[in-house]
Amino acid sequence: MKRRVFLKSMAGMGLYLAANRDFPLAAAGKTSNSTCVGPTTSTAMVQKDYSWMVGALNGFSATLIQEHLALLKRYIEELNTLESRKNSIDLGGANPVFSHWRTCLFEHLELRNAIRLHDYYFSGLTSRNMSAGKRFGRVVVHNFGSFDQWWVKFRASALASRAWCMFGFDTQTGKCSIFGTDNDRQCPMDFVPVLVVDMAEHAYCLDYPGDPYAYLDAWLKRVNWQEIDKRLANISVNGS
Ligand SMILES: [Fe+2]
Repeated sequence: MKRRVFLKSMAGMGLYLAANRDFPLAAAGKTSNSTCVGPTTSTAMVQKDYSWMVGALNGFSATLIQEHLALLKRYIEELNTLESRKNSIDLGGANPVFSHWRTCLFEHLELRNAIRLHDYYFSGLTSRNMSAGKRFGRVVVHNFGSFDQWWVKFRASALASRAWCMFGFDTQTGKCSIFGTDNDRQCPMDFVPVLVVDMAEHAYCLDYPGDPYAYLDAWLKRVNWQEIDKRLANISVNGS
């Protein structure tokens, strides 16, 4: 299978629920005798401009970035479509097995998280070669002993994850932690992401087929450490 076709098939798998949303929402609009009550106006989400990344990130092909941004664009379009239709969904048949409202509820959660996590990921990249910032250095020494010890643990966590790996601040423990997820619904509670890497296959298979280890090395070289230090400065992190 050609790489481009493979990448698209991966993106298609990620959008399985969104693609299958069309039927239940369309049907819901015909049986709205117990529909949502709420505002009819909504603020559509707009994609941030990441086009500068195309062809500018060493270690990442222009095609991969273009395909990845196209996927994010579709997530946003699907979320906006869902937002515009949710007030016409019949609430009367809501149940945990299958219902239009259940589909809306969980797709909203999944799309919202996917968009936010992609923003953390893309806005944390740069074409410049940077060293880890002083604030990040202090935090990882305080929480993990050293940058290398943090990286060993973060990389292992990323390799063990099928969707996202994130380093950030746990507001319950007051410490920085690493979490991994297998999908867009598994976000930890009371956790503020600081550094996020996309471990879904669409994020790297085109350039690093079957080699997430090499992808992570390339990604680490493209981290915008100024942005990461800025994120840390905006939250109260022990050791920073
Ligand atoms: Fe992604």
